[in-house]
Amino acid sequence: MDTYYLRSFGCQMNEHDAERIRAVLESQGLAPVATPDEARVIVYNTCTVRRSADERFAGHIGAAARIKRQDPRRTIIVTGCLPQAEREAFFATYPFVDAAIGPQNLDRLADVVSAPTRERQGFFDDRPLLSGEMAGRRTRPFQAWVQIMTGCTNACSYCIVPLVRGPERSRTVQSILGETHALVADGVREITLLGQNVNAYGRDLPRAAQEATFPSLLAALDGIDGIERIRFMTSHPRDLSDDLIAAIATLPSICEHVHLPVQSGSSAILAAMRRSYTPDMYLERVAALRHGVRDVAVTTDIIVGFPGETGSDFAATLDLVRAAAFDGAYTFMYSARAGTAAAEMPDQVATEVKRDRLQRLIALTQQEARQRRQRLVGKRCNVLVEGPSRHAGTLRGRTRQNVTVNFTGTAVAGAIVSVLVTDATSTTLRGHV
Ligand code: SAH
Ligand code: SF4
Ligand code: F3S
Repeated sequence: MDTYYLRSFGCQMNEHDAERIRAVLESQGLAPVATPDEARVIVYNTCTVRRSADERFAGHIGAAARIKRQDPRRTIIVTGCLPQAEREAFFATYPFVDAAIGPQNLDRLADVVSAPTRERQGFFDDRPLLSGEMAGRRTRPFQAWVQIMTGCTNACSYCIVPLVRGPERSRTVQSILGETHALVADGVREITLLGQNVNAYGRDLPRAAQEATFPSLLAALDGIDGIERIRFMTSHPRDLSDDLIAAIATLPSICEHVHLPVQSGSSAILAAMRRSYTPDMYLERVAALRHGVRDVAVTTDIIVGFPGETGSDFAATLDLVRAAAFDGAYTFMYSARAGTAAAEMPDQVATEVKRDRLQRLIALTQQEARQRRQRLVGKRCNVLVEGPSRHAGTLRGRTRQNVTVNFTGTAVAGAIVSVLVTDATSTTLRGHV
């Protein structure tokens, strides 16, 4: 049988794209295998948000290059954000790659696989929403991603995403509802709405559809029978409206979790990042959220070592982290990306300084997350059962606040059960049904 190997890196949007890639490959009669050695078609779906992502890919593609040297009949395809950022120059670094396909061109994959050519092929056109409308092959039976928009129109000075995913473009409400109905019919109970800035949903749609705001989309989805849980990410703090807070508070299926990247706690750095809010504005939104939504979890992203970040800027970030009491944080060292404004800024911060700040920040965010989890010990949580956990005899699932729970007892995957929490770490909870 004809075979493929697929490895995907990067954010949930990319993982969702990987489901579409899988569907295309399987519609071409290819069957998945576990290692590149066994595969005729080898696909890497890439991320380029930080230099470490590029390096990770470089570590993997070496294996494919070796395989191709021994057997030139193999086809190597690289999809996603890295070739989209580099376009034709990508082939100069990786001459053994047969085709490179940007995220807006994934529908070209079928032709590349079914009718291979001798020449290298690159597909990097800016085409709206194609991947959002493509069918995917889910790997989780009860959970699904729904891409409600693509691209980003913000211009955060450090970020390459707008350059590789194009401007913000929303799908229509009808299209999103149609896909969700089909998912429910297929057994899905939890959906995660995806977009770089979901709060901005609908802003780009034509006038007739202007009533399509994010809160009204949530209300329409909440009305669908069979969807128990609705999650969404990512939210931009500037666009976290009171209407959205009210929607989370009142619509039963909307989960009490908001991922709200703050990036920095320094006014000067936030301005240089072009985030368009101050630390006080951010904290005010978090307070409004915690006031409006009972038991809401707030998680964030933080960058250390942005150009010009001084010791007191970093101290302001630590202060904000203490004030916000985050339930979880993804923390990153700033990484200069070609083509972004910040890459050209003076006063790039030395790697050792960034590393030191990152360690201090991680220590603080983990301590906070552990404290937030600790408060749940002795309480009951509703958990959507996802399947067996890594430890024999226990099950794994998630709370509405998006916390992973490992627990004992009997329950079937896809069910929502009440779990008594007995123990907590900074990332997970333990308990029993
Ligand atoms: N659209 C989302 C996030 C996109 S990228 C949002 O706006 O929140 C995910 C995270 O990667 C960002 O929140 C940011 O914290 C981090 N990031 C993006 N560019 C980066 C860079 N050049 N260096 C370090 N971290 C970066
Ligand atoms: Fe990047 Fe900012 Fe857009 Fe997020 S909002 S994808 S960080 S430019
Ligand atoms: Fe996602 Fe990485 Fe692209 S974070 S949008 S896969 S650059």
